[in-house]
Amino acid sequence: MKPDNTSKFAANRFSIAPMLDWTDRHCRYFHRLLTNETLLYTEMVTTGAIIHGKGDFLAYNQEEHPVALQLGGSNPQDLATCAKLAAERGYDEINLNVGCPSDRVQNGRFGACLMGEPQLVADCVAAMRDVVDVPVTVKTRIGIDDQDSYEFLTDFVSIVSEKGGCEQFTIHARKAWLSGLSPKENREIPPLDYPRAYQLKKDFSHLVIAVNGGVKTLQETKEHLQHLDGVMVGREAYQNPYILAEVDQQIFGLDKPIKKRTQVVEDMYPYIEQQLSNGAYLGHITRHMLGLFQNMPGARQWRRYISENAHKPGSGIEVVEAALAKIPKELDV
Ligand SMILES: Cc1cc2nc3c(=O)[nH]c(=O)nc-3n(C[C@H](O)[C@H](O)[C@H](O)COP(=O)(O)O)c2cc1C
Repeated sequence: MKPDNTSKFAANRFSIAPMLDWTDRHCRYFHRLLTNETLLYTEMVTTGAIIHGKGDFLAYNQEEHPVALQLGGSNPQDLATCAKLAAERGYDEINLNVGCPSDRVQNGRFGACLMGEPQLVADCVAAMRDVVDVPVTVKTRIGIDDQDSYEFLTDFVSIVSEKGGCEQFTIHARKAWLSGLSPKENREIPPLDYPRAYQLKKDFSHLVIAVNGGVKTLQETKEHLQHLDGVMVGREAYQNPYILAEVDQQIFGLDKPIKKRTQVVEDMYPYIEQQLSNGAYLGHITRHMLGLFQNMPGARQWRRYISENAHKPGSGIEVVEAALAKIPKELDV
């Protein structure tokens, strides 16, 4: 499908998945230096944390826009409260997690188990839509446990879109086993079924449908975009972030130079300095940058130098400069 830059959903043509403990605000700032256009998702934040927790769970950097908050919860009033707070803070989209299979999340009756309660999901989406103007979207799977027929998925999407008003879904194209598999295994063992996501788009052509799961290259992304409105990439974007460097050109059709890896590192310096002066630890920022030189000469030394030094008390920008010096200059990468 052609890029539609006028749509409020344009940014969802390519997005980076919500990933707990990975896509925090430092990570998102770093990813934004590689791509202007990609929609960035926060880690899942539970309604309980926002409403009762100590600390500001909605903090982000203005540079991150467009940025979507992913919420975990299943109480419509609580979700509405959190969505409203998030919209006031300027988030561009609110996403509900209906895909996480962890036991902890199931105990709170949210995440993937909500696929079995489509009316409740519709109520949650409707409650959030009542109080915000930004899109309220749902990230889900193609099924749970033995409920893995195409009809199960279409019933879910029908109810959540018709009764809840949800206009956009991201489909992680594998089902989740709610018991017996760890969250990690649930990202690897159930087989991917992209044709099912394609069929969903055919049957619900009025909805915005993005696919997620197992995408590793921009070539694969383009192939999915022949059938769907958007592609969400998780692990590959985190572990091999330089794939993001050509997203604006290849996926969004912009005509601009491709940033070099060394430039991305240097562009991080002002942010790192500012964060350190606010009391952040260097290692909390640099841990997201370890994969930047993947498959390049010097990559292992870069990674090792940062891993061994960034966590030491008082570590500053000089650690990153010294790590960068491990990359052979003549490579000009
Ligand atoms: C470390 C990690 C944490 C994750 N946390 C979340 C989360 O908070 N919310 C969510 O919807 N999915 C979460 N996921 C799942 C991803 O969003 C994505 O659906 C999954 O990794 C499949 O996409 P991929 O193959 O491109 O990685 C997480 C995945 C990883 C690897």
